[in-house]
Amino acid sequence: MVDLKHLKSKLLIVLFCSCAATLVLFSYSNLSSYLLQLDYRQSDKPVSKALCAFRQCISVEDEDPWFMKRFNTSISPLLSQENAILSKSTYYWWQRLQTKQNANYGDVVRKLFQVVPGKGHYNDSAPNRCRTCAVVGNSGNLNGSDYGSIIDSNDFVIRMNKAPLLGYEKDVGNRTTHRVMHPESATNLQKDTSLLLIPFKTLDLEWITSALTTGTVKRTWMPVMAKINADKNKVLIYNPTFLKYVHDVWLERHGKYPSSGFLTLMFAIHICDEVNVFGFGASKDGTWQHYWEKNKFRKSEPTGLHAGDYESLVMKLLACKRKMKLFEGR
Ligand SMILES: *[C@@H]1O[C@H](CO)[C@@H](O)[C@H](O)[C@H]1NC(C)=O
Ligand SMILES: *[C@@H]1O[C@H](CO)[C@@H](O)[C@H](O)[C@H]1NC(C)=O
Ligand SMILES: *[C@@H]1O[C@H](CO)[C@@H](O)[C@H](O)[C@H]1NC(C)=O
Ligand SMILES: *[C@@H]1O[C@H](CO)[C@@H](O)[C@H](O)[C@H]1NC(C)=O
Repeated sequence: MVDLKHLKSKLLIVLFCSCAATLVLFSYSNLSSYLLQLDYRQSDKPVSKALCAFRQCISVEDEDPWFMKRFNTSISPLLSQENAILSKSTYYWWQRLQTKQNANYGDVVRKLFQVVPGKGHYNDSAPNRCRTCAVVGNSGNLNGSDYGSIIDSNDFVIRMNKAPLLGYEKDVGNRTTHRVMHPESATNLQKDTSLLLIPFKTLDLEWITSALTTGTVKRTWMPVMAKINADKNKVLIYNPTFLKYVHDVWLERHGKYPSSGFLTLMFAIHICDEVNVFGFGASKDGTWQHYWEKNKFRKSEPTGLHAGDYESLVMKLLACKRKMKLFEGR
C-alpha cells in the first residue's frame, strides 16, 4: 500500500523547494523583502470547503497577502458600455503603446457597441461557483504531452491567436470556448467560440467593428483580415483599464506592456475559479517554438517589448500560491 503520509510530505518538500527557488530568482527584484516574509507552508492546508479540486477558489478571499494586495476585482477585465470611458492616465498610456491615430475614441466605442454586446460579462462570481479554465499557450512543450483530454475537461478552454488544433488534438484538445487575438493575429472562428480581442490601439476597436460588418479596415501597421467569421454576439473586448492594471500592479511596469499570453492568464485568474495553464515557456530541450512549427525554434525567448523573465516569475509565484496550476509538458 502506498504510504500516503510519506507521499504527502515528499510532495510538500517538492513544493517548498520550487517555491524557494522562485524566491531566489525573485531576490534580484524589489519584491524580495516582501516575499521573504511569506510562509509558504500555509498553502498546504487542506482545501476542504472548496469545490475546486486542487486549491481554494480564487475568488474566495484567502489569506495570501501578496496575492490579495494585487488581486482587484473592482476592475472589469472586459470593456462594456458602463466602463468604456477611460481615465485620462489610462487613455494616454494606452494611446502610446502602438501607432498613434486621430480617431475619436468615443465615436469608435459607440459604433463598436452597436455591433457587439456591451454589458454584463462574467459578473457572476459566487462562493459556490467553480468555473475551471484551461489557458492554452502555443509552446512546443505541448508536443507529445497528451494533455488533450485534460484541457478539454475544463469549463472554459481559452486559446491564443492562430494556434491550430487539427492534427494536434491528442496534445492540445479539440474544444475552444474563447480565442484571444488582436487584428494582426486574427483567424476565423467556429460558431460556438467567443472572440476575445485585446485592443492595443483605437484602430483595433475600429477593426473588429469593421471585420464583423463592412470590412473596410484592411490594414493596421500591417495588412490584416478585412472580414472575420465569428459570432458577433459572443465577441468580448479586453478592457484597456484592466490592461494597464496588469502592467502596473502585476508586472510592476516591467516591459513596455504585457504579452498577450500574460494578459490572457490574468483574464482567467479574474473570471475563473480554477486556472490550469498549458503551453507556456520553453520546450523540453530549452528551445522556443510553436507546437505546430517544425524546425523554426529559437534558442532564447522571443520577448520583444515584453518583460518575459518577469512575467514567468510572476507566473511561478502564482503557481506556488496555488492560484493556477502550471502544466509544463511531459
Ligand atoms: C482597485 O482598483 C480601484 C480602481 O482603480 C482602486 O480605486 C482601488 O483602490 C483598488 N483596490 C485595491 C485593493 O488595490
Ligand atoms: C450581471 O450582468 C447582467 C447583464 O447585464 C445583469 O442582468 C445582472 O444583474 C448582473 N449581475 C450582477 C450580480 O451584477
Ligand atoms: C473531441 O474529442 C473527443 C475525444 O477525445 C471526441 O469524443 C469528440 O467528439 C471531439 N469533439 C469534436 C468537436 O471534435
Ligand atoms: C514533436 O515530437 C516528435 C517526437 O519527439 C518529433 O518527431 C516532432 O518533430 C515534434 N514536432 C514538432 C512540431 O516539434
